[in-house]
Amino acid sequence: MIRILSVTSECAPLVKTGGLADVAGALPTALAPLGCEMRTVLPGYRAVMDQIGKGKVIAKIDDLFGGPARILAAQVAGLDLLVVDAPHLYDRTGGIYLDAEGHDWPDNAERFAALSYAAAYLAQHGAGAWQADLVHGHDWQAGLVPEYLSALGCQTPFVFTIHNIAFHGNVDAARLSALRLDPWRFTPDHFEFWGQISALKAGLMGADKITTVSQTYAEELLTPAFGMGMEGVLRHRKADLTGIVNGIDTAIWNPATDAAIKPFSTPKGKAANKKALRAEFGLPAADGPLCVLISRLTDQKGIDLLLQALPALLDRGGQLALLGSGDPALEVALLQRAATDDNIAVRIGYDEALSHRMIAGGDAILVPSRFEPCGLTQLYGLRYGTVPLVSLTGGLADTVINASPAARAVGVATGGQFYPVASDALSAALGRLCDLYARPKDWARLQRNAMQQPVGWDASAQDYHALYASLLNGAVR
Ligand code: ADP
Ligand code: GLC
Repeated sequence: MIRILSVTSECAPLVKTGGLADVAGALPTALAPLGCEMRTVLPGYRAVMDQIGKGKVIAKIDDLFGGPARILAAQVAGLDLLVVDAPHLYDRTGGIYLDAEGHDWPDNAERFAALSYAAAYLAQHGAGAWQADLVHGHDWQAGLVPEYLSALGCQTPFVFTIHNIAFHGNVDAARLSALRLDPWRFTPDHFEFWGQISALKAGLMGADKITTVSQTYAEELLTPAFGMGMEGVLRHRKADLTGIVNGIDTAIWNPATDAAIKPFSTPKGKAANKKALRAEFGLPAADGPLCVLISRLTDQKGIDLLLQALPALLDRGGQLALLGSGDPALEVALLQRAATDDNIAVRIGYDEALSHRMIAGGDAILVPSRFEPCGLTQLYGLRYGTVPLVSLTGGLADTVINASPAARAVGVATGGQFYPVASDALSAALGRLCDLYARPKDWARLQRNAMQQPVGWDASAQDYHALYASLLNGAVR
């Protein structure tokens, strides 16, 4: 048995802004059959406190970065949670990272230092009778764990997973004492980064092993184009960096049992869902493929490239249905574009059930990201026979088999890829997609292949298990 303390700022189904929540929520179940017991340390945001009931108090910390805190054990949706109940940090209206105006909370450094400190405290003192063999932290919000482990004199190994290197959690050096960091460790060997405190760097330097969510992203991260300033640090830690691709929860994303759609188990069954989706979005009948896109609207996701490339789809009778929220400028640009064309429909918002209906009803799913550590929506697409068209980067490169002549000749293609990540290449790829769609036999083959591609957690859970076991080196109790 390996006991793992997972440390995350979001976890589905309780609180989610992106794929990190899905992964953190899925890992415990995926790892359980391999003899791993994972408990998840999560901030007690108001939404989380509302869902956990009373919980059981297993620790009290008198002063957790400005106020008292309790750690509550609770079980929700099959997850063993250790919730950090610290109202001065987490009990507020607004988002989990941003206030109601869309600005970072000014005390985010303290809020996630508190999460990391609480995790280190649990590793050192145990969660009741339960003692972690190792700590597994996700993204910069868990980056300070090794600093606090060291401060508490705790030897428990630390695994650090990068879901997105774009966020560093950097703050001014003046906050050293507020964050209760050891000033003697404010050096390039630990968490000093260009004169600032960097939670991400602390995690990268302090981790026993570093993972990221695809092999290609693990390689990309070592380059200036993708490392976002951390490429030097990562090259330094290269020997301990591996990529383990994400899976999806194949119980939630199962076209044969999905309660949000008209269930199906062959591509033919998609027709009724497509009809319903067109009606829901007010799209007319058309000859070309109905493409869907579900995303946070940020520069990362290449939505601006798609806006430029859309004529290549529309000219061929294709359509776009898009669901997303985020950058206000992108929201406005999308709504304006939809207003000028009957074959483009845009919903601004966040809607899980609608995302299922879109994946079920779409012919193709678009993921034109500039960078994508893994990406999950292309995996949903594969499972539902909704052909992914993706940029050739990160996890998108590792999870889609491009319909190249060679791949089609041996009948293994599952989607399309484009490179370089630019609007011209995307236009050309949309053209190729329309060509394939116009040949029903070829298209059906793509759909069947897509639906057969394994997208669950089995293989990756084994990789995590092997990584954990390698760190414990026979020391598992
Ligand atoms: P990222 O984590 O960078 O946002 P991923 O593809 O890994 O990208 O994960 C995004 C997750 O969030 C997926 O589960 C996707 O379906 C979901 N999602 C994103 N935007 C929306 C939205 N507007 N409505 C519903 N689900 C969304
Ligand atoms: C990040 C990445 C995304 C990845 C997700 C889960 O948010 O942007 O590519 O799938 O984390 O690992």
